[in-house]
Amino acid sequence: MKLPRLQTAFETNPNKDFIRSKYDKPWIEHWHHERGMLLKYLGLPAREMLDILEWQHFLGRFTTIEREENEQHLMFLKANVKDVEHRLYSLYGEFDKILLAGRDRYGNTPEWPYDLVNLDYFGGFIYPGLARPKALKKLIQNQGTYESSFLLIVTQHLRDGDSIGEKREFLEDLRRMLKNGIYDNALHPGIDEIIDWYLGANIPDAARQGLYLNCFLRDCGEAEQFDVKCRPAIVYSGTGRSWMIHFTTEFRFKPGIGHRASSVQSLVELINLGLREVGNGKFVEGRFVQPQL
Ligand SMILES: C[S@@+](CC[C@H](N)C(=O)[O-])C[C@H]1O[C@@H](n2cnc3c(N)ncnc32)[C@H](O)[C@@H]1O
Repeated sequence: MKLPRLQTAFETNPNKDFIRSKYDKPWIEHWHHERGMLLKYLGLPAREMLDILEWQHFLGRFTTIEREENEQHLMFLKANVKDVEHRLYSLYGEFDKILLAGRDRYGNTPEWPYDLVNLDYFGGFIYPGLARPKALKKLIQNQGTYESSFLLIVTQHLRDGDSIGEKREFLEDLRRMLKNGIYDNALHPGIDEIIDWYLGANIPDAARQGLYLNCFLRDCGEAEQFDVKCRPAIVYSGTGRSWMIHFTTEFRFKPGIGHRASSVQSLVELINLGLREVGNGKFVEGRFVQPQL
């Protein structure tokens, strides 16, 4: 399945600048202090490398992924001008193919493991063939193999290609899982109410997608022995007025266990995280109000 090409060159905008410098940066600083070292970065910084430059005091080496050769070339020029070229290692190609195959278009491999992964790509998450969910799962498995905690940032277009009903199927599975875990039948109507709300066609897909991806990350992380801490998904209007959705998630490896991890953040807490919105370069409250479990 070939994914749609939405844009070629990336231009930033005030909402993205706010998220990069006012929202993610403090989390990255916190992660840097918690890990007690410079963070090894894997991500898609584009030619301007605005994320790397904004966070550079917390970063050690960085591996970049880029599918456009001219963007890659301009990225090298920028790295040279900013005197960070010696810390740069580049991979060419589609990020999901690189993560799945374990090598880029020229046979170069990522330098596993990483402390900070910033997957900031064009397009949505779900398309027939599910290449992106499979690629993210592979990334989390790789980090698990190295028993390495990491901070994962994902930014994608809100509009996806979920013609296969993946989110609907997920919500039905979540309904079953919650009911199976709660023996008191008197509490089941509350579960039906919230799942039916998420299934409702007239709610913004952002709510469904926020819940879907956070549950997906938690599920893949716990299977690889990570304690996963999710944050509310953030929606914002990006370049060309396309709606974007942004996730920042901590994966802390739990050494010395052979079983699946169970996160400190409960599933109910995760469901109740809901959505936030950034507009005009700041948080805007009140547009996405969702029922709580
Ligand atoms: C949104 S920009 C990154 C912006 C940067 N992280 C920042 O904070 O300013 C995404 C970059 O990755 C490239 N890109 C987008 N989708 C990709 C994909 N599926 N695989 C590889 N590169 C991709 C684009 O060409 C672009 O240069």
